[in-house]
Amino acid sequence: MINLKGKDILSGAQFSREELDRIMDLAGEFRARLERTPSLDLLNGYILATLFFEPSTRTRLSFETAMQRLGGRVIGFSSVESTSVAKGESLADTIRTVDQYADVIAIRHPRIGAAREAAEVAEHPVINGGDGAGEHPTQALLDLYTIRRERGEIDGLTIALSGDLKYGRTVHSGVQVYRHYRCRLILVAPDALRMPEEVIAPLRAQGLPVEETTDLEAALAQADVLYMTRIQKERFSDPAEYERLKGSYILTREMVERVNPRVTIMHPLPRVDEIAPDVDALPNAAYFRQARNGVYVRMALLALVLGRIGAGVWV
Ligand code: NCD
Repeated sequence: MINLKGKDILSGAQFSREELDRIMDLAGEFRARLERTPSLDLLNGYILATLFFEPSTRTRLSFETAMQRLGGRVIGFSSVESTSVAKGESLADTIRTVDQYADVIAIRHPRIGAAREAAEVAEHPVINGGDGAGEHPTQALLDLYTIRRERGEIDGLTIALSGDLKYGRTVHSGVQVYRHYRCRLILVAPDALRMPEEVIAPLRAQGLPVEETTDLEAALAQADVLYMTRIQKERFSDPAEYERLKGSYILTREMVERVNPRVTIMHPLPRVDEIAPDVDALPNAAYFRQARNGVYVRMALLALVLGRIGAGVWV
């Protein structure tokens, strides 16, 4: 039996296979319940704080939806201008304060390591909703759940990750969870945006197949799942470098139909131009279902870290 009560969620690397499977099972259970009723009362009386120091649509709104569908309430901010951060307050002081109000804190911040810093000063569980070019573990969990739902199983699949693998935090967390399922990974990126060696090293050390290429079509031909990502404009110090690299990979419907019509197409969103709009109508374009899955997975996480799952409380 797993126990995430009181735990921080900071990195994709922190999970065991048992925990990953349990989180996905629970997400599926919440999905089934919400098909019968719009909301549950499992987290009645609990408060989630969403502290978003960086733009977000899906992560913040799906956390808030998850909390409210479980009967809980939400406080927070979605930009810093209206907060005391604009007066120069430190992250630690902001967190110490919010920790007095809320039972669980979800944070997004432009600095790598900010969620961990927050977790060090907060008594309540802290969930990393993205720390700069670092990690985005809850996205990795919903991606994993999406693969399971779309493909039926995860073990042994070939997953191609394409785009900005250097700055993209979703893929940094993603590879840490895929390794439990012995997936074959094909990393597709321009040379300047390759996945950092320190992210890949633990996978290679585990003997997992990790291939690198710059050729999207070659990877697509072999993939069960193609995970596209946005070039992370906001992380570039040199705008000319972004201009040079943007548009590196553009997936078109023609390409999918010619090379691999059955591939499952995913994207954490927002997309800029890396998936042409005519791909959306394909039945295997999974990215909006993927966004929906974020609600169920975050429901599971909130219920687990608040200790509301387990003998005598719920299933
Ligand atoms: C991603 C993020 O913020 O890292 N978005 C998300 O959470 N769904 C991906 C991105 O911004 O490109």
